[in-house]
Amino acid sequence: MAFPIEQVRAQFPALATTDSGQRRIYFDNAAGTQVPRHTIERITDFFHRYNSNTGVFNSTSVAVDAMVEETITALADYLGTPDPGEVIIGANMTTLTYQLSRSLAHRFEPGDEIIISRMEHEGNVTPWLQVAEDNDLVVRWLDFDRDSWRVEPESLQALLSDRTRLLALNYASNLTGGVNDVKALSSLAHDAGALVYVDAVQFASHRLIDVVDLGVDFLACSPYKFYGPHLGIVFGRRELLESLRVYKLRCASDALPYKFSTGTPAFELIAGLMGTLEYFQWLAQELGATGNRRQLFAAAYRAMGAHEDQLSAQLLQGLLAIPGLRMQGATTLEHRVATFSFVHDRLTPSAIAKRLSAAGVFCHWGDNYAMEVAGALDLDPVEGVLRLGLGHYNSEEEVAEGLDLIAEILGG
Ligand SMILES: Cc1ncc(COP(=O)(O)O)c(C=O)c1O
Repeated sequence: MAFPIEQVRAQFPALATTDSGQRRIYFDNAAGTQVPRHTIERITDFFHRYNSNTGVFNSTSVAVDAMVEETITALADYLGTPDPGEVIIGANMTTLTYQLSRSLAHRFEPGDEIIISRMEHEGNVTPWLQVAEDNDLVVRWLDFDRDSWRVEPESLQALLSDRTRLLALNYASNLTGGVNDVKALSSLAHDAGALVYVDAVQFASHRLIDVVDLGVDFLACSPYKFYGPHLGIVFGRRELLESLRVYKLRCASDALPYKFSTGTPAFELIAGLMGTLEYFQWLAQELGATGNRRQLFAAAYRAMGAHEDQLSAQLLQGLLAIPGLRMQGATTLEHRVATFSFVHDRLTPSAIAKRLSAAGVFCHWGDNYAMEVAGALDLDPVEGVLRLGLGHYNSEEEVAEGLDLIAEILGG
């Protein structure tokens, strides 16, 4: 069945929003996606009907408790775990990673080693560097391959030792779009006795995650990158979460996953996240899919991924034909998501971005917090790259229009 792009686009009010009559083309999805009506309506419904704190007998409070539990259960289906106790919701990926890194530090001894890949966003780097600094740990850097644009198993194997305690690994780079074989790399790390903390923030917008199949210990993602509100999520294996020292208030819940939620959560955003998960199910049903919630998520993601692949092929072909443009990432669709970065011989990324944004083609430039990637690629530390991040609501017409504009800017 053809991807129902018009029906999809109609669900996202932001796509029809203009700036003084100028249409917008959202190619800034790698930094954050727009949200569907399902999300917006869930948030307004929260404020209309049951804005409240939790844990008491008021009807509003009872409704909040039920909504949070329902959302966590749906999120467990989304991540592929049968155990909702393994799903922590927090402010964003970075905050949750800081929190868990502090808890994990209690398992490490001076002289222990942690491996950090150079494909990471800083959200999966600085928290570990600081844990290492505070606890006299040794940091080993894991390079990615410049041909495959991913971490090769041999590079990891060479760094593992009986002192390795943790591997910090990106699922998909937010600069190059390269996708790692997380399952194979995790298995190597586990064989050496290390834990694996995966950053799936960029991956989650494009492909469905399966934490059980991956066999990872922790996996973080951010709903605002997959058509939801500004929140963060971490999956953690139950026995690990149970054994970790938690930085929480004495009177706060000791039950999983709530013991990792410090302070009052953003309930309205959690309600909105439920709306996003409902949107994926709506899309699956539009496509004629049936089955349980996980199967509907899988059907929606298969269709979104296939549509994005078509757009990616179109975008790549157009970009590669522009003289002086150098891609910073794989030039085929294998092992990559729809996040594309490039530099140009003559114009800086910021100069290109300024012209694109003025013409209503939204994009990002700079190192995009992927400092290690930018360093490994010898990019200008301030200018970095021009980044275009596609999402499933983008259309062929938008890609064609964006390409024409880029060619014009870089040609003239
Ligand atoms: C790959 C990756 N990891 C981590 C983050 C940080 O996520 P958050 O803003 O939820 O802390 C981002 C945000 O751009 C990202 O792209």
